[in-house]
Amino acid sequence: METHLMMGSSSPALFTTFLISVYLLCHFVCLVAADYTVGVNYGTVADNLPRPYQVASFLKDQTTIDRVKIFDANPDIITSFANYNISLTITVPNGDVLAVSNLPAAQSWVAANVLPHYPQTKIRRIAVGNEVIAAGDKNLIAHVVPAMKSVHAALKLAGITDVQVSTPHSMGIMAKSEPPSSGRFRRGYDKVIFAPMLEFHRQTASPFMVCPYPYFGFTDKTLDYALFKPNGGVFDEATGVNYTNMFDAQMDAVYSAMKRLGYGDVDIVVAETGWPSAGDPNQQGVSLENAVSYNANLVKHVNSGLGTPLMPNRTFDTFLFSLFNEDLKPGLSERNFGLFRPDFAPVYDVGILRNQQQVVAPAPTTITAAPSPTAADKGQKTWCVPKDDATDAALQSNIDYVCGSGVDCKPIQDGGPCFLPNTVRSHASYAMNAYYQAYGRNDYNCDFTSTGVITTADPSYQECTYVA
Ligand SMILES: *[C@@H]1O[C@H](CO)[C@@H](O)[C@H](O)[C@H]1NC(C)=O
Ligand SMILES: *[C@@H]1O[C@H](CO)[C@@H](O)[C@H](O)[C@H]1NC(C)=O
Ligand SMILES: *[C@@H]1O[C@H](CO)[C@@H](O)[C@H](O)[C@H]1NC(C)=O
Repeated sequence: METHLMMGSSSPALFTTFLISVYLLCHFVCLVAADYTVGVNYGTVADNLPRPYQVASFLKDQTTIDRVKIFDANPDIITSFANYNISLTITVPNGDVLAVSNLPAAQSWVAANVLPHYPQTKIRRIAVGNEVIAAGDKNLIAHVVPAMKSVHAALKLAGITDVQVSTPHSMGIMAKSEPPSSGRFRRGYDKVIFAPMLEFHRQTASPFMVCPYPYFGFTDKTLDYALFKPNGGVFDEATGVNYTNMFDAQMDAVYSAMKRLGYGDVDIVVAETGWPSAGDPNQQGVSLENAVSYNANLVKHVNSGLGTPLMPNRTFDTFLFSLFNEDLKPGLSERNFGLFRPDFAPVYDVGILRNQQQVVAPAPTTITAAPSPTAADKGQKTWCVPKDDATDAALQSNIDYVCGSGVDCKPIQDGGPCFLPNTVRSHASYAMNAYYQAYGRNDYNCDFTSTGVITTADPSYQECTYVA
């Protein structure tokens, strides 16, 4: 059976499936107001994926994804992106790292895998191996920096100066990452491997690539913190920073380790991060709603330009994992990291689908399986306010959370139009709504550990205007 149809093809059934999917995911998240840009990892551990040329044109026409990372140097994929304004990170597979640590072999690799495609395909970066350091093969580890240097030299000899060379790291490179300011690399590797690697990055203006995965770091106490949901925060006494999400904490731990070696100035790229949308029945923290919360908030966060507490205003080239659900991966959750199914139907949207309005527009009469639309779905104005039974303590922690998350709380400060009545409930009401509106008006943006409720009644009064 031909399952590799394009979305724009003449298959009405497939297109209807797509519409239903968009409609359903829109029930959870519908960031139609903003288009963000982000990169994706295009993994191919599957036997049912579309052809690379279909993938390239799908990404260009239907999404705002402008960067793609692949785990090898598959010529079909690299060719498919020719003449598209989508930049590519290609990978020297781990099995080739030893070889390319010598210059002639690196030159052959570049001649075989880069030159035929350059410059028509926008190859912008070469990852030399994938997560080699934390994997522990001493011989391979010792060859990573020499291999990076050889590949860089080979590119230069071929006259190519706009392709960066790096290598992605799992968080397993860290000996310590909590609190973030105490972050340090594994002993034995920091001076011998990481200092020379960071020196290479500084000299060649290339980034240190890391794979922060709150998904692999959360406990039952820190799930909300991992998902960018309201939470009690994690305080770093050394810096006085109250971390409100685990992504920032992991990034700052890496930054602290780099700074400890004298390389706080080197750029950081988020080579992989993500959250699965499905898993085994009792698997904690895995759901479509959680995948949407993590990935949509992550995309928003890295597009905000705010940086992290220790890296204010810095931006991080970021690659979500992953483009597709990959059916040959081991384990149900591993198979469900994709933004899209193999037929291009979105599993959910994180603000990167083009033309959503147009896609969502068809009459709901054709959609039988859809849940009843919420007020927000119907285009009605909605606000987020405290539940009647929410305690002042819980509401105060909502205020602290919201006002620490970058939302403007001046209106509820002394002299502001919403300062009076000067009660915790009134201030929380303003703050919770401001957060709900700013973060995309999704039901879960008004959850606040079950202390918020969505209303269609405008809570504005006198001079105090609640945005909607
Ligand atoms: C190509 O993409 C870059 C951003 O990735 C953008 O700045 C540039 O304008 C694009 N060029 C064209 C011709 O679309
Ligand atoms: C970050 O940007 C803000 C707003 O532009 C600015 O006020 C602040 O000084 C910047 N901080 C740093 C550390 O550059
Ligand atoms: C950190 O922020 C959270 C949420 O805003 C708050 O509940 C907590 O008290 C704060 N902790 C410190 C030490 O400031």
